[in-house]
Amino acid sequence: MPAAPLCRLEDIPDPGGLDLTIDGEACFAVRQGGTVYLYRNRCPHIGLPLNIIPGRFLDYDRQHIQCSSHGALFEIGSGHCIAGPCRGQQLEILPCQLIKGGVFLHAAD
Ligand code: FES
Repeated sequence: MPAAPLCRLEDIPDPGGLDLTIDGEACFAVRQGGTVYLYRNRCPHIGLPLNIIPGRFLDYDRQHIQCSSHGALFEIGSGHCIAGPCRGQQLEILPCQLIKGGVFLHAAD
């Protein structure tokens, strides 16, 4: 387990997202209740970051992750693209663990 969490659960709006930097790369966390998902902030369409506004990763209804550039929609829990120019493709998901309210990158043992 890393020494410090990436962020705390309460740092992430519910539902909502939070920009993070992991090993120098842009990433983000999305929260749904007590569950957190971590993704690299890179759209599979043409590789742009998904958000323009910090923390703004979800669509209007806050039911899906939405890319700000061309509107691709992704399932929050899987990163699978269900609509838009990269339909059928996938965000890169990173394994994470919630330990005592801290969000940790889950390194392989
Ligand atoms: S860069 Fe994300 S939909 Fe085009």
